[in-house]
Amino acid sequence: MPVITTIEDLRRIYARRAPRMFYDYCESGSWTEQTFRDNVSDFAGIRLRQRVAVDMEGRSTASTMIGQDVAMPVALAPVGLTGMQSADGEIKAARAAEKFGVPFTLSTMSICSIEDVAAHTTKPFWFQLYVMRDEDFVARILQRAKDARCSALVLTLDLQILGQRHKDLKNGLSAPPKPTLRTMANLATKWGWGLEMLGTKRRFFGNIVGHAKGVSDASSLTDWTAEQFDPSLDWDKVRRLKEQWGGKLILKGILDEEDARRAADVGADAIVVSNHGGRQLDGALSSIRALPGIVRAVGDQVEVHFDGGIRSGQDVLKALALGAKGTYIGRAFVYGLGAMGEAGVTRALEVIHKELDTTMALCGRKSVAALDRDILLVPEDFEGRWA
Ligand code: GLV
Repeated sequence: MPVITTIEDLRRIYARRAPRMFYDYCESGSWTEQTFRDNVSDFAGIRLRQRVAVDMEGRSTASTMIGQDVAMPVALAPVGLTGMQSADGEIKAARAAEKFGVPFTLSTMSICSIEDVAAHTTKPFWFQLYVMRDEDFVARILQRAKDARCSALVLTLDLQILGQRHKDLKNGLSAPPKPTLRTMANLATKWGWGLEMLGTKRRFFGNIVGHAKGVSDASSLTDWTAEQFDPSLDWDKVRRLKEQWGGKLILKGILDEEDARRAADVGADAIVVSNHGGRQLDGALSSIRALPGIVRAVGDQVEVHFDGGIRSGQDVLKALALGAKGTYIGRAFVYGLGAMGEAGVTRALEVIHKELDTTMALCGRKSVAALDRDILLVPEDFEGRWA
């Protein structure tokens, strides 16, 4: 068993183990990948204030997100095709999250279906929805999420058309992979992954296949989004979906203060500051630079969550200190999953928890609630002066 001390350790193992097509899917941003890179690198601009001689006994990272108890305010983000990174990946990730005491969010574009994940877990998870043109499909999938006792709907607002990730086109990304020469040559070197995949029936978009009509190629994310995602989604529709769902609602993909105000007006329980991991509008601001302005704009009206670029517990702490009430990890847990299955997701959560807890202590704080801007050294021009 290798000694794993960082999320980067998990990424390296994952890179060796997973088929190229799925590694690239995870590890890409759109177009030039500027926003994808900035999401990570902008965290480094923020420094921490070292404090001493503060009693650090009895610390806790426990908190709440949308009123639910969490062992630390770090949810697993919705990630498409997670069940292609490791066989039955969504079930493995959901189980690791449940045992750790953090929320798991199931993507619409998952391999394991809502029902499958519900059958293999004991606590309610969150369900992420992409709004489709087919209103019957939307109504049915919301009902399926309710029947599965999902305790929040995470509505993604920043992906009604798919940002272009060059590698996905070049690799011919699909679930399951199509047997081209190039793909087969790569799969032949990934026998550990392949053996596990042969042992499961879950190799298709489980929420879609058999549930949706009029899809020309149900294995292609690109075709599916182009044909099915509803480009007319607007704030009125968001309001209607809120009524239709009737439970806790989290609006994901907010990067602009004006949009944050609109989202708060809708009456969402939380918003997620996110640029979809740099996978949609390349050239958009990194999430961490966008966060302070959004907290100032709506932080007293709605719970502000943060997503984008988190690779350590120190990143979590910085986002919390800038006013986020909760955070999400996407790639950081996928690295763990692709490297070591459920144990790898648990390891990713442990690494982040330890970094968060230790950093909190060395900054002189004993609880998540006590984290504030005062523990940070933020460059004066951090948010940027844009005309
Ligand atoms: C969403 O499904 C994505 O690929 O970013």
